[in-house]
Amino acid sequence: MSTDAIVLLKNDHKEIRKQFKEFQSPKATTAQKGKTVKKIIELLTMHTYIENEVMYPRVRDLLPDLEDDVLESYEEHHVADVLVMELSMMRPTDERFEAKTTVLIENVEHHMQEEEQDWFPKVRTGLGRKALQELGTELAAAKKRAPKKPSQTSALKKTIDAVIA
Ligand SMILES: [Fe+2]
Ligand SMILES: [Fe+2]
Repeated sequence: MSTDAIVLLKNDHKEIRKQFKEFQSPKATTAQKGKTVKKIIELLTMHTYIENEVMYPRVRDLLPDLEDDVLESYEEHHVADVLVMELSMMRPTDERFEAKTTVLIENVEHHMQEEEQDWFPKVRTGLGRKALQELGTELAAAKKRAPKKPSQTSALKKTIDAVIA
């Protein structure tokens, strides 16, 4: 199995998009949407954790030219975190549940596209194959310890970092 960092992160994106589609399916019932959102919350909590803790700091260190992209991405994660936190406290029958999820999906889709099309290609060129393999191994290890719920301490750290880091 490839441990290339970008391949690994894009695979996460694929899994996330699959759940987005599930949510948007016209056939989905309220109960099914509730289940899908739980899954989305889990996937996003893990994914933003490994990017915040491993990928972004390393890119910032090694490729200072990408500093602005990384900082913008931290903020986009933060917006997603706020919505994820709110959704995790709501019921699928709540009036704003569906709209909030739709806004989350729009924001995350925009963010993943920027990663995939704008600056991950620059990371690939800048770091090269070997460094990306090493980074991929680190990401895989981080995924094992990653929080699955936004209320876990390791997930909450992002909220503090967003303001005072
Ligand atoms: Fe991201
Ligand atoms: Fe990502």
